[in-house]
Amino acid sequence: MNTKVFEEYESEVRSYSRKFPVVFKKAIGSYFYDEEGNEYLDFFDGAGAENYGHNNPEIKESIIKYLENDGIIHALDLYTEPKREFIEYFEEKILKPRRLNYKIMFPAPTGANANEAALKLARKVKQRTQVWALMGAFHGMTLGAISLTTDHVPRVGAGVPLENVTHIPAPYMFPELDTIEYMETLLKDDHSGVEKPAALFIETIQAEGGVNVFDIDWLKRVRKFCDDNDILLVIDDIQVGCARSGKFFSFERAGIVPDILTLSKSIGGYGFPFAVTLMKPELDIWKPGEHNGTFRGNQLAFVAAKAGLEFMLSHHIEEETERKGAIVKEFIEKEILPLDSRLSYRGIGLIWGIDFSKIPSDTFCADVQKECFKNHLVIESAGRKDAVLKIMPPLTITDEELIKGLEIIKIAMRETLRRVK
Ligand SMILES: Cc1ncc(COP(=O)(O)O)c(C=O)c1O
Repeated sequence: MNTKVFEEYESEVRSYSRKFPVVFKKAIGSYFYDEEGNEYLDFFDGAGAENYGHNNPEIKESIIKYLENDGIIHALDLYTEPKREFIEYFEEKILKPRRLNYKIMFPAPTGANANEAALKLARKVKQRTQVWALMGAFHGMTLGAISLTTDHVPRVGAGVPLENVTHIPAPYMFPELDTIEYMETLLKDDHSGVEKPAALFIETIQAEGGVNVFDIDWLKRVRKFCDDNDILLVIDDIQVGCARSGKFFSFERAGIVPDILTLSKSIGGYGFPFAVTLMKPELDIWKPGEHNGTFRGNQLAFVAAKAGLEFMLSHHIEEETERKGAIVKEFIEKEILPLDSRLSYRGIGLIWGIDFSKIPSDTFCADVQKECFKNHLVIESAGRKDAVLKIMPPLTITDEELIKGLEIIKIAMRETLRRVK
């Protein structure tokens, strides 16, 4: 396949294309197709941007209808019909049934943008510059978001000191350390050297951080810790929201409510860039235009976002995700773990990680990915040293496709293990 133009003219910053160096042309459901017509099963899902499947026909129909009627496409933050319909639907069908009361803000359309807005707002509300985040966190690449993110390479790439964020050990890092007590000590100890934050940013499942699922008790205690200490709890549900965990919001399983909530990726319904920052009404102290942008709430994305939510509800995607998650878990336990005693796994809903960090090879996960791709499975890595294989198919994947992909992983692992042994 001719990839010359990319290699010659596209910046060296490109990343995923290096792992999957073919030229893609089409995508339907759980599959990509390259320009020669070869089919690839997608276990990457645009990092969670295509939860309802590629070119989902029901969502597509709404988009085509809107385009055919010359619906307004660009409208800054003007009042429009698609925006009204999205807000009304989101309020009635997603927020109210969960007894969630939020004001909704449309920042620019990426996850990083949603987190930038959350950061600014938290600091403005609490009048404190410090923010806390967890080690292993991923919140985006813009300057504020990257100061929350812990991945070394992009942090160095920021080129300036990343300030005003203190990183707290994630609960899985030191089994003997009670991270809630640790945070309490940081606040109480007059020699901790750490300032009280405006907010604590968390993902309830660190996806890029290596599929680390935080347990319900810890999430409840974090909520109480923030309440007790007048700290805002910000949950970034950008990758694991929109039913990925088996519930629409990933924090629902813990029965907690964040003060500020960020969503992007699959909230756009069809893979369109779209993001929202939700805040408890009393936190909405923005001045008009204080956070601005040309592309806030793309109109086609509003149409797709509403159609995506309709699809999610009418096809019982949350329940289906839980059911399919059990298939993945069983497969990993019965077919994958017996391959090598150094393997471990974690996951929930339809996000699972197979952890290779105990295998003494820096390239093991990359090698498994390569083997998978040879067998036409697109799958990404995550976590420290990229040692975790992240299984994240579209939520609409069929059981047969799911098993097919898992079998490819098993074969790829067997082959790679044979080489390192
Ligand atoms: C949890 C989380 N937050 C934020 C982001 C950043 O989103 P974007 O790449 O759209 O800026 C990502 C992207 O992977 C993410 O997984």
